[in-house]
Amino acid sequence: CGIVGVLGTVDAAPRIVDSLKRLEYRGYDSAGVATLVDGAIVRRRAEGKLRNLEAVLEKSPLTGISGIGHTRWATHGAPTVANAHPHQAGSVAVVHNGIIENYLELREEIVAAGAVLNTETDTEVVAHLVNLAMANGLSPRDAVAQVLPRLKGAFALAMLFSGEEDLLIGARKGSPLAVGHGDGEMFFGSDAIALSPFTDRITYLDEGDWAVITRAGVEIFDQANQPVTRPEARSSVTSSLMDKGNYKHFMAKEIHEQPEVLGHTLSRYFDYTTKRARVEGADQLKFKDLSRLIITACGTAYLAGLVSKYWFEKYARLPVEIDIASEFRYRETPVSDKDTALVISQSGETADTLASLRYCKTNGATIGAIVNVPESTIAREADRVFQTIAGPEIGVASTKAFTCQLAVLAGLALQAGRERGVLTPEREQELVAELIEVPSLALKALARESDIEKLAHPLSKASNALYLGRATNFPLALEGALKLKELSYIHAEGYAAGELKHGPIALIDENMPVFVIAPFDAIYEKTVSNMQEVAARGGRIVLITDERGASECGNAAENTVILPDMSDIVAPIIYALPVQLIAYHTAVFMGTDVDQPRNLAKSVTVE
Ligand code: G6P
Repeated sequence: CGIVGVLGTVDAAPRIVDSLKRLEYRGYDSAGVATLVDGAIVRRRAEGKLRNLEAVLEKSPLTGISGIGHTRWATHGAPTVANAHPHQAGSVAVVHNGIIENYLELREEIVAAGAVLNTETDTEVVAHLVNLAMANGLSPRDAVAQVLPRLKGAFALAMLFSGEEDLLIGARKGSPLAVGHGDGEMFFGSDAIALSPFTDRITYLDEGDWAVITRAGVEIFDQANQPVTRPEARSSVTSSLMDKGNYKHFMAKEIHEQPEVLGHTLSRYFDYTTKRARVEGADQLKFKDLSRLIITACGTAYLAGLVSKYWFEKYARLPVEIDIASEFRYRETPVSDKDTALVISQSGETADTLASLRYCKTNGATIGAIVNVPESTIAREADRVFQTIAGPEIGVASTKAFTCQLAVLAGLALQAGRERGVLTPEREQELVAELIEVPSLALKALARESDIEKLAHPLSKASNALYLGRATNFPLALEGALKLKELSYIHAEGYAAGELKHGPIALIDENMPVFVIAPFDAIYEKTVSNMQEVAARGGRIVLITDERGASECGNAAENTVILPDMSDIVAPIIYALPVQLIAYHTAVFMGTDVDQPRNLAKSVTVE
């Protein structure tokens, strides 16, 4: 979910909506805004996308220069208008991101106190508790100070009080919240993106902090209610970065930005002159002494980690234990101070990834984080941050962040190989020379877009699809299937090509499109044999390969996407592009919401 708060000098509602548009990628089940009109809280809320809220506001505009807003990804309670934020109880309105875990117990207490709850949400409970405390004579800030310690779970909150034109109170525990400093104006926002239309002067709240803003400034308190000072930083996120440019969707823009952002990321982690990996801070990860490396992440970031497992093991002889963060965190895996864990996250806020980081940290491990948002919670809690220089990613399905994660992981794997004495300087230089070619290879891959677009029509008729690959192309097969189901809602599965005969082959018939990701590498022939097994059973094959692969594959494939020849280490980065484009064009053809697929959210700050 996304939160915004404005204490301004002009009408707040249009500004809140502008900010919510930038935050919509965090959740878009419903949205709402509340302002003070002649001192009274007035709300407008709508189910579904933000444009519905805009329509409501057009019909019944909202004045008032102080307000809060919210865009929601439903946790407790269906995405209805009644459950949409802001929630109000008496003289307080609340927007909330995260989950109040003890809300049922708190509900009982509120009901016992004689209040009537109107929604199924955990948020309304917060509004009631603060309102009850104020009804007992406490000031808004004393009421909040009394209520916050009673809330269990991970959350960020912003609150508006009737009759208080110059006051908003926000709190952060487990979900991010930042304060924006304007000129005689002050703001709250979930992140720098939310605040970008207002200001680039930002103070990030620390875990457990809460903040009181007035137009004159901010007062911040820690968990123990002691006043604290947090540094003000300049954000590099400008509003213009949040434009779609000439593209129809953010996702298309982000796919096409890859040659450029991969160039930025590679030049951060490789020395182009000496052709060596140059990952500052990698020494902190103690690669030389490790008997295994732990990697954990969610979604597409997990698949980037899975690619890197092959790299760390091959180029650095470093065994990798990788798991999905939501599994890892509850597995009670033995972790000690001899371990290093790498967590990977575009947003740096994913709750399960953060929890695995904390699990490893508590057990003494050193933590490296690969994140795209340097101010994020994961970045702040890790011992060392390796930033992907992908720029803001707005499309909910990750594209450029994924390939930039791969670029950073390649740097770390080669650095590990050097430190562990596995890679000779010559071999390292050879590999780096190949990686430096990635931006130009990515451009060439994007030049195949029109061939890929033609696949969308036949694919849109399928109700299932399979993706197959081996070695580093196996995670890509998983990524291809994930992208297709996320965007087009076609059921898809990714399989290690060698596993086909152990089950999924039973699904093959003339209605089953099968994408085979097979560059001409050492195991190309093995994958092509699996492809023949599919062809023999009538499956409709799309082969994604290179020039050499295309000339050696016979005529089993119905369609072939031909990329330039490239070395093994760059293949998973470049082959990601056609995989993304297949899902993108199929979704566009089918008319689904590409940037905001149903039920998904970009930043998942709940378990
Ligand atoms: C969500 C997004 C995915 C993303 C995953 C992990 O599910 O829809 O695209 O891969 O979260 O997000 P993170 O920010 O941790 O990379």
